[in-house]
Amino acid sequence: MKMKSEHVEHLFDLSGRVAVVTGGGGGLGSAIAIGLAGAGASVVVLDINQELADNVVQEIRSNGGEARAMTCNVTVKSDFEEVSRTLDKIDILVNSAGTTSRHAAEDFPEDIYDRIIATNLKGSFMSCQIFGRRMLDKNSGSIINMASIGSSIAYPHTTAYLQSKGGVAQMTRSLALEWISRGVRVNAIAPSLFDTPLVRASENKVQLTSDFIMARTPIGRKGDPLEVVGPAIFLASDAASMVTGHLLQVDGGYLIN
Ligand SMILES: NC(=O)c1ccc[n+]([C@@H]2O[C@H](COP(=O)([O-])OP(=O)(O)OC[C@H]3O[C@@H](n4cnc5c(N)ncnc54)[C@H](O)[C@@H]3O)[C@@H](O)[C@H]2O)c1
Repeated sequence: MKMKSEHVEHLFDLSGRVAVVTGGGGGLGSAIAIGLAGAGASVVVLDINQELADNVVQEIRSNGGEARAMTCNVTVKSDFEEVSRTLDKIDILVNSAGTTSRHAAEDFPEDIYDRIIATNLKGSFMSCQIFGRRMLDKNSGSIINMASIGSSIAYPHTTAYLQSKGGVAQMTRSLALEWISRGVRVNAIAPSLFDTPLVRASENKVQLTSDFIMARTPIGRKGDPLEVVGPAIFLASDAASMVTGHLLQVDGGYLIN
């Protein structure tokens, strides 16, 4: 006999929620933006690359979803403030804007180091701070940061990236602790290697980092961007109402050992 539970039916329903996705034109960000729209959210796709963001919005709308795109450089605080001003409310925030570059630590160029930290770490924090205030004002919200297996372990030629992702993990915990009593949950997704433009561009220059990671990934393959959608909907939704400060490993078993 089939039993339908209203509680279960609505656990993952994001209807009526407004979701903001930074880096929403990218590999993981676009999959998440489209996924959140599929779960009922109205999605604001932010990216430094307006064309990428527009394409995602078009795809969401052509599937009957609600979305709009805005240009936002996560290293520019006033860009966040401008986006925030245009929104009536923000229920869900996904920080997926990110960058990397592979170099030996002893030769790591300072300008690239600064760009990676500014984008991945400070950019995520500025986003949490400015959009988080909106959530605190109404005592509810769910923030999802993009951490990495590199928040917890090391691989070669990515020291700036690993530093930034270690910081994202600690930022997630610190905000989760400060904001839980005010209705705002803060979690992170920690992927292993996924097949995205970022990874493909990195591999065109330096392959050894990916070889190191793949040799230690028990599932034996890269992730497909669609495989972060379920984890993102879960963390965004009421199904995760008791979950905060958590790094959800989406890593094909990398961190088992
Ligand atoms: N792909 C992976 O294997 C993997 C693994 C772990 C974590 N991550 C993280 O997931 C996030 C998304 O990565 P991805 O693989 O989808 O990369 P991606 O390059 O496909 O997407 C990143 C997006 O961020 C945008 N962006 C870059 N700099 C920006 C800025 N200053 N302001 C606004 N937007 C900017 C880019 O235009 C791009 O659309 C990143 O934080 C990345 O570190 C990715």
